[in-house]
Parts: sequence; structure tokens; C-alpha cells
Amino acid sequence: MSRVSSKISAIPVTEPAQSNAIPRYLEQTYWWAYVHPRAVQFFERQWLVNLILWGNFNRLREAALDALGRKVGGNTLQIACVYGNFTASLADRLETESSLDVVDVLPIQLNNLRAKLPASARVSLHLYDSTALGFSDGTYDQAVLFFLLHEQPADVRARTLKEALRVVKPGGRLVVVDYHRPGWWHPLRYLFEPVLRALEPYAVDLWNHEITRWLPDGFPADHIVKKNFYGGLYQQLVITVPAPS
Ligand SMILES: C[S@@+](CC[C@H](N)C(=O)[O-])C[C@H]1O[C@@H](n2cnc3c(N)ncnc32)[C@H](O)[C@@H]1O
Repeated sequence: MSRVSSKISAIPVTEPAQSNAIPRYLEQTYWWAYVHPRAVQFFERQWLVNLILWGNFNRLREAALDALGRKVGGNTLQIACVYGNFTASLADRLETESSLDVVDVLPIQLNNLRAKLPASARVSLHLYDSTALGFSDGTYDQAVLFFLLHEQPADVRARTLKEALRVVKPGGRLVVVDYHRPGWWHPLRYLFEPVLRALEPYAVDLWNHEITRWLPDGFPADHIVKKNFYGGLYQQLVITVPAPS
């Protein structure tokens, strides 16, 4: 594993005392999408991220944001940057006095996000790994994971979910939007799977299993509301964080 550089200026960025290492799966599987500077230049196009989601970017973004609220109050955490206007749209919904924190493990992604946001945006950026968020228990009223889990190996995915649930207050919401196995009649079920297997090998886990598989043991099923989109190729979970037992 190599060390990330911590060259971030201007917008305040919280960094852990020691720089996070780049997770192996990011370096090995996703260097072409997130790590390489040319990747960021290439993918940071709204039309392209929309194309990658088969024209569903706006719909999925709005579904995630609506699950947080038409106006979003309190403290909100976005776990991992997203190409396109996801964070700006979320920031637009913030009520006065509310806050939005965004974490990512790559300085290049945080820098890219900072460049996209207006200077007035009430957004703080934090260099953290999703499996080791440097926030106290129950810091946030809600958190959102938009297309992160499919990129992570199963053990990392489980740790990300555990951390997200830890930092959201009991009664708060964790909103997850990600891939899902489409219906048998969906042409993309057959055409898209080989592409996913080649480019995003961990994503197929989300076709084969429910996300609940990676929630902590005994997580109450009645705290989860699931909805599918686009013939089942995408899913949204709205998870209400239970009180500690
Ligand atoms: C949210 S996902 C993909 C979202 C979507 N496909 C898009 O258009 O950007 C991509 C981001 O996740 C970040 N990421 C991946 N693994 C991470 C981890 N363990 N901790 C924090 N951020 C992570 C990457 O650095 C990248 O910025």
C-alpha cells in the first residue's frame, strides 16, 4: 500500500494525524476511475456519470436526497465523493445552521470536489477511510452512501456500514444507493454483468446478495426500507439507526 499525499489547500480539510493509506482495492481495481489524475479529468463530466448510470443519475441523486428530506437539517455526512453535482445538490438542500461533511480517502477526490463547489458552500471536507471515520458516535443526524459499497470487497463493505451506523445518532437515517440485480427480463442483466465483472468485480456481490448481508449481525429488518429503480438495476435502502441495545 502506498501513502496518499496530503497536498490540500484553501478549503479546510480535516486530516487524521497520519495520512490514510490508499486501500488496495482502490489502487489495484479503481486506479483508472479515481486515483489517476487523468481519471479525475476524464470522469468529472455530468453527462458521462449520467451515461454510466444509463441515464439515471438525476433520478437516483434525487431519490437519495429526498430520503434525507426536501430540506436537510442537522449534521449530514456524505461518505465518499461523487463525480457530478451530487454534493452541490445536497448542499443546496441544507437548512440554515445545518452542516454537511464529506469524507474521502483520496486527496485528489477531495481537491476535485472542492474545485466544483462554490466558495460559499457550507461543506467541510475530511480525509478519512470509510472504515475508520474519525468522528464520535452519533455525530450525525443522517448519512449517505451513494455508489460506494459496490466498489468495496465484502469485509471492507461490512466495516463501512458498521462505521456509518456508528456515527449516525439513534433514530437518524443512513441512505444507501447502489447496484442491484435487475429482473430476469432486463436486457442489462445479461449485457452489463460481464462489463461489471471485468471493471468492477466487487459489484457483482450486490447482484448476488442483499446489502443486509453486510449489516451487523442481528440488525433489525424492520428498520430498513428498500426500493428498486430502473427494473431493479439499482436499489435504495433507507436504514433507521436503532437505539443501542
Ligand atoms: C462514491 S464512489 C463512486 C460514486 C460514483 N460512481 C461517482 O460517480 O463518483 C467513488 C469515491 O469513493 C471513494 N472511496 C473509495 N473507497 C473509499 C474508502 N474506503 N473510504 C473513503 N472513500 C472511498 C473514492 O476515492 C471515490 O472518490
